[in-house]
Amino acid sequence: MSSKNAIDKANEKLLFEAENDKKLSYIENTKEVTIIAAASENNALGKDNRLIWHIPEDLKRFKRLTSGHAIIMGRKTFESLPKALPNRHNIVISRNKSYTAEGASVCHNLEEAMALAENDSQPFIIGGGQIYEQAMEIAHKIELTRVHKDYEADTFFPFIDLNKWSIVSEESIENSNGEPSRFSYLTYIKK
Ligand SMILES: NC(=O)c1ccc[n+]([C@@H]2O[C@H](COP(=O)([O-])OP(=O)(O)OC[C@H]3O[C@@H](n4cnc5c(N)ncnc54)[C@H](OP(=O)(O)O)[C@@H]3O)[C@@H](O)[C@H]2O)c1
Repeated sequence: MSSKNAIDKANEKLLFEAENDKKLSYIENTKEVTIIAAASENNALGKDNRLIWHIPEDLKRFKRLTSGHAIIMGRKTFESLPKALPNRHNIVISRNKSYTAEGASVCHNLEEAMALAENDSQPFIIGGGQIYEQAMEIAHKIELTRVHKDYEADTFFPFIDLNKWSIVSEESIENSNGEPSRFSYLTYIKK
């Protein structure tokens, strides 16, 4: 092999290793654990294991944002759904070691859930109240639909500390369905 070829080969090798390193750090640096929720002015999320409102636009947005990604949820939220959500890796957290959920992976804490979602650059935490509370520490982003009304509820979204979170986008929407009449899409990024 000529010395030029040897140098090219060595450069290629270095470049390939650098590319790999870049890819790895890219995955690490761009991992964006995202909480997605709809909460009222008084932070209501649900009652009797159901949502309190029906906002078709918000459900469409939820589908658009989460499709193709891992969705991590508590056992109660999974049981509030008719079935596992299609085109997403459904990951359900339960303390019950013998719990099984059709169409979903089951795990036993948030760390295990994150491990199951390790190949996803944007895993979504989709609720409910207990899991949101535990995920606030590890999340990088919150996609919050703020419903501009107070509701009676038994499950609530955790307090968002504005010393820790910044609002980076805000969009106010009129609800075509009528009730509630107004809501906003708020995106928060951890400082
Ligand atoms: N508005 C929204 O955006 C939204 C989104 C999602 C859900 N919701 C509403 O929220 C309500 C459900 O929320 P929720 O707070 O009652 O329940 P949840 O967070 O959905 O699920 C709670 C369950 O998760 C498991 N769990 C929680 N922490 C755990 C841990 N550290 N390790 C292992 N397992 C753990 C336990 O399951 P086991 O009991 O099996 O051990 C626990 O009972 C419903 O009303 C639903 O409609 C609203």
